Amino acid sequence: MKIIDNIKELKEEIKKLQGSVGLVPTMGALHNGHKSLIDKAVAENDNVVVSIFVNPIQFCAGEDLDKYPRQLQKDAELCENSGVKIVFAPKVSEMYQEDKNNLTLICPPYSVVDKLCGKSRAGHFDGVCSVVAKLFNLTKANRAYFGQKDAQQLFIIQKMVRDLDFDIEIVPCPIVREKDNLALSSRNKYLSENERKIALNISKSLFEAKRLYKEGALTKRAIIDNSLKLMSDLDVEYIEFVDKNTFVEQDEINNNTLVLIAAKTPETNTRLIDNILLWE
Ligand code: PAJ
Repeated sequence: MKIIDNIKELKEEIKKLQGSVGLVPTMGALHNGHKSLIDKAVAENDNVVVSIFVNPIQFCAGEDLDKYPRQLQKDAELCENSGVKIVFAPKVSEMYQEDKNNLTLICPPYSVVDKLCGKSRAGHFDGVCSVVAKLFNLTKANRAYFGQKDAQQLFIIQKMVRDLDFDIEIVPCPIVREKDNLALSSRNKYLSENERKIALNISKSLFEAKRLYKEGALTKRAIIDNSLKLMSDLDVEYIEFVDKNTFVEQDEINNNTLVLIAAKTPETNTRLIDNILLWE
């Protein structure tokens, strides 16, 4: 496995590869959620490239860019043991030669960003789409793997690929959870012991919503009330209901409903997200 930190060398190595290329874009601090994407990519492609880059242009002012966990050595070991061919881990100055206010960006429309995570994180998805598009161009990947954990991100990337005719297949991957259902996230590292217990109420709300929905006629209002009660120790940013195929908000829930939650923990102010399909 090669660890590459510059674009010139990456392009040279990509040229040498034979067969299909699978890309797994990440910001590092790899956990079993990332590993599930990597394993799928390794199973489905002749070559796998994992990018590890804490992308500054997708962080808003006041967010955790500086304290975001960085552990390249450990991440590289996980990649090597998983059968990855190339880890691409560039410095910020390598990815962005221009000042960040002077870059050409890909900006998805308001219809998809002015809701859910995009609402509180202005410019976040511009940063995500722009870095992901660069990674698609650099790696010339045939397939790229994204987690359902970041459902809005996945939806927006799929739209970008359609709208801009990228010649790449986007492969969605299911959410990986701890035994107690907490969704794995690099940001779980920030949680105190007490906060981890409190954070469990996010997935609990979602699983309970699904159970109640399957049991019978349940309204959106009833799910919200039940969830907010369970998450009373968290600062809930949103609990929202969208059609899984269009991401349009729903007044009435149905078998296509995706329920999404973002909430912050009380001590370290860690922002966590999770989601579930009411019917699957
Ligand atoms: P990051 O948060 O590191 O996540 C990288 C990929 O891993 C994303 O596709 C994310 O959805 C997936 N992932 C994270 N936790 C997961 C879990 N518990 N189960 C399944 N998949 C999970 O998302 C980003 O980085 C960045 O925005 C990026 C796409 C790399 C662009 O900078």
